[in-house]
Amino acid sequence: MIQSAKDLYEGLKHIKIGGSTCVYSQEKCNELFPYVTEINELKKKNNAIILAHSYVTPEIIHSVADFVGDSYELSKKAIETEATTIIFAAVKFMAETAKILNPEKHVYFPSTTNGCSLADSITGNDVRELRKKYPDYSFVCYINTTADVKAECDVCVTSSNVYKIVETIENENIVFLPDNLMGKNLIDHCKKHNIKKNIILWNGTCYVHEEYDPDMIKFIKNEYKDVSVVSHPECHPNILALSDYVGSTAQMINHVKETDAPSYFMLTECGLTTRLKLENPTKTFVGSCTICKYMKANNLKNILDVLKNKPEAHKIKLDEDLSKKAKHSIDNMFKYVDLYTNKPNS
Ligand code: 13P
Ligand code: SF4
Repeated sequence: MIQSAKDLYEGLKHIKIGGSTCVYSQEKCNELFPYVTEINELKKKNNAIILAHSYVTPEIIHSVADFVGDSYELSKKAIETEATTIIFAAVKFMAETAKILNPEKHVYFPSTTNGCSLADSITGNDVRELRKKYPDYSFVCYINTTADVKAECDVCVTSSNVYKIVETIENENIVFLPDNLMGKNLIDHCKKHNIKKNIILWNGTCYVHEEYDPDMIKFIKNEYKDVSVVSHPECHPNILALSDYVGSTAQMINHVKETDAPSYFMLTECGLTTRLKLENPTKTFVGSCTICKYMKANNLKNILDVLKNKPEAHKIKLDEDLSKKAKHSIDNMFKYVDLYTNKPNS
């Protein structure tokens, strides 16, 4: 529990990744601390919980978040919580997913930046058009989509379960959307494991993960002997080919915890590297920092504002019918996860 600005500084001072956004001085912590105190008091008073993605700023993760995780874990937590209000510090589609799963709860999204380059790449109408073109296909959407798109699809997936769910779906014909690069990685995975699937892709990409360059990995491998290269499945297949481990943000965290490489090069938004550094102070992380402007648009000030003023503009509201349709694809994700986790030899 953080009791003073000094406690806050002690927790954050070792972070040196991410330039000025993630460098903490005692003065900066003096400024942040009153927000921390007020947020933590208001959470109790309002029976509220803060769910945060690992990519948000370290001060949120370290001082006010009740749970930090990947998109799958956050969806699970949104169902399990007894809190009546959920403040979702992440991207809007994740807050929408929490609302779809908990229509009776108040869900607030503190950030003023609604987008995500993947979620913005496709609309419900685009899916309806694709359905006409591919009537016999199963439509699988990545969780990084709006409720509108989820409502038109059969199954939702996250980066932690995409391969296993697609393997488990009986239909050989799949439309996977919107992440083109994750889709290409999925096709490679199926080929490698002799899984017969005919997969049609959309053209969305994550503007953070598509930027990585294989030459950068070669350079880092030359500079740091036995470095472990860890990447997210939203990266290009040529990045995955040079990686030692590929997984969702939570899977990457576990991988780093469970292994003992001399250094790690994380090919993902640098909030994750920051979190890893906080949780594994003796491990070494090398390479550059890339920031997701959407995730980093959450801050202590806008979290306090939603807790204090409950602004209607930041409250997630969804049409009831649309929400029910979208829930169907998310419920199917949970069903498939149960199915493959309970299957012998899975
Ligand atoms: P995870 O589900 O792995 O946390 O990924 C979400 C995301 O937006 C990655 O860019
Ligand atoms: Fe979207 Fe990419 Fe940011 Fe993840 S990192 S929220 S996919 S823009």
